Amino acid sequence: MPVNASDALSLAGRDLISVRDFTRDELIAFLDEAEAFEYYTSPILSGMVMGSLFFEPSTRTNLSFSSAMQRLGGSVLGFADSKVSSTSKGESLADTVRVVENYCDIILLRHPFEGAARLASESTRLPVINAGDGTNQHPTQTLLDLYTIRQKRNALEGLKIAFIGDLKYSRTVHSLIETLSHFDNELFLISPTSLRIPPDFLEELNANGTVYHEDEDFFSIAQDVDVLYSTRIQQERFPDAVEYEKVKNAYRIDRETIEKLGGKATLMHPLPRLNEISMDLDDYPGAAYFDQVRNGVTVRKAVLSLLLGKTRV
Ligand code: NCD
Repeated sequence: MPVNASDALSLAGRDLISVRDFTRDELIAFLDEAEAFEYYTSPILSGMVMGSLFFEPSTRTNLSFSSAMQRLGGSVLGFADSKVSSTSKGESLADTVRVVENYCDIILLRHPFEGAARLASESTRLPVINAGDGTNQHPTQTLLDLYTIRQKRNALEGLKIAFIGDLKYSRTVHSLIETLSHFDNELFLISPTSLRIPPDFLEELNANGTVYHEDEDFFSIAQDVDVLYSTRIQQERFPDAVEYEKVKNAYRIDRETIEKLGGKATLMHPLPRLNEISMDLDDYPGAAYFDQVRNGVTVRKAVLSLLLGKTRV
């Protein structure tokens, strides 16, 4: 159920399934609230348990949610590999969720199928957080990405933001682009032709009047960008290994790329990176990908406390 616009942070007991659940005002109110969590470690979630169900690999999302929960005094149970769960015996997702709700207060779910988080939320009375469902959505990554853009550029509007890489399968790109359609920015969508962003996202940008440009060649359209958001080619989503081989090295960002773009871009990536960003950029002042990791804990502390209805004291 979408959150109530008149009470921006009345999120207690709600699910976080899609970025569509947030209005523009709610997003801004959320980011303001999240800032207060950066150094906040009071045990406001003491006695509360997060059930963490990962049916796909994860390092950052899984561990940062666990860190956030524990830093606020809560605890965590669950699995990071569904092979050790009864799913491998054929148990349905709905049944797994109905069982796990007896052990915890909130459920975190990552799953390879689009719509799995929504299905889980319909199978339990507990709040469900979508930690990534197939190629569809990754709403908490989007919240931390927005938080990082505002932190680094001091704005959420009037920016030139370029996305580069796998725009077809990357759920972090899909969620962030949908959210950015609430704000007035110019977007550059750079991908191999076979990995263009699906048409529904473009329709949404059109409906909201967002200016965007699509191309395969980076430099023909993107100059002086403020934010460059790179993403991994999502090998595990390709139906055909040969197709992956054709595009796996499509783009590599190095110092020369950054210079050509005007030398001031904030460089973002949800991680893990393979070869998209040269390691010699790690000390480039605009490199923000490890700041995104740090901000992930801050933002997830805010998400957990708001959904669990435990406000800061
Ligand atoms: C991303 C994901 O799982 O979608 N990782 C993350 O959560 N930071 C990006 C990716 O796997 O490429």
